[in-house]
Order: sequence, then structure tokens, then C-alpha cells
Amino acid sequence: MLGLKAETSPQWADIVIKNLDLFLTDHAYNEMKASQSAMAVINHWPENIDFVNTMSGIAIEEMEHFEMVYKEINKLGFKLGKEQINEYAMKLRKFFPKTKDPDEKFVQKLLLSSLIEARSCERFSVLKEALKKDYPELARFYSDLFQSEARHYRVFLEFAREYAGREKVDEIWDDLLTYEAGLINQLGKKAGVHG
Ligand SMILES: [Fe+2]
Ligand SMILES: [Fe+2]
Repeated sequence: MLGLKAETSPQWADIVIKNLDLFLTDHAYNEMKASQSAMAVINHWPENIDFVNTMSGIAIEEMEHFEMVYKEINKLGFKLGKEQINEYAMKLRKFFPKTKDPDEKFVQKLLLSSLIEARSCERFSVLKEALKKDYPELARFYSDLFQSEARHYRVFLEFAREYAGREKVDEIWDDLLTYEAGLINQLGKKAGVHG
């Protein structure tokens, strides 16, 4: 799905359903971080009107998602917990060699955002199927979110291509997808969006 090279293990959704409160807290903070990431990259390409408009739009949309997840948390009678470390994102960042070059850093950030969006989408799609029986409303919620996160995945990837050139970016992207598949095969044991 979405070019990803590995699928989430089916038992991940069972773990999530047994720990929905933990999952929703993790999801809420993921939306907040997605908003912060979209804001943070604006400074790297301020002269591109389309980029600035799109990123500020995504930043707003992601905070709306935060609000929506927070509402679901309250509806289900849960409490928003504290933010947990995102091991997946930390390990994903290690794929890239350390660089001081601001252009390289910028492209790395765009590709990481794109991939995190793609994996979130894949996870939402797995989860929505598992939620259908006992949580039909929440299943619909994840089905709707899938659409906007899939759009974000493409936007980040396209801007990276526009900035650094398609050929160069697609080569890095393919290696990054292979690396991510290795990582995701070791995960799927925690009730987090990328756990
Ligand atoms: Fe989102
Ligand atoms: Fe997103």
C-alpha cells in the first residue's frame, strides 16, 4: 500500500483494541507533531508560495486532527495521557547520514514526513477493519482520516522531488522504503500509531 514495502502484522490491531486509550493518546500527539513538522519546514523554502500555503494548510489540518482525536478520547470516557517517545520515528531518522547541509536536511525532513504519513495511512486502514465490529463509529473516523493522510504523503514526496530533482529523490526514497520495511517488521507489538 502507498508504495510501502512491508505490511503491518495483523496482531498489532488486536493489541491496539485492547489498549485503545494508549493508542488514542499516542495518535493525538502524532497529529500535534505532524502539525509542528509542517510549520518547521516553511522556513526552508519561504520563497515558494505554493509550498508555504500547502504547509500552513497541513499544519492547521493536523491540529484539527488533534482536536478530533481528543474528542474521540473524551467520547469513549478516556483521558489524554502523556506523550510517549516515538521509537519508530527516531529509528527512521537514523537512516540518513548526519549532515550540516541545510538543503540535505530539508529533503530528509520532507521524506521522513512523507513516509510517516504513508505508514500512518497503512496502520489506519488495518485498524479501521479491526474496529468495524465493536467500534463502528471509530472505524469510520479512521477511514476518513486515511484520505487526508494519503494526500499529505504525496504532497511531501512531490515537494522533495521538486526541490532536489526526481531522480535523486526517488533513489533515496526507494532505499528509505527498504530500510523502513526492515524496521516495521520488528515492530507491531505496541498500542501506538507506529508502535
Ligand atoms: Fe493528521
Ligand atoms: Fe498528515
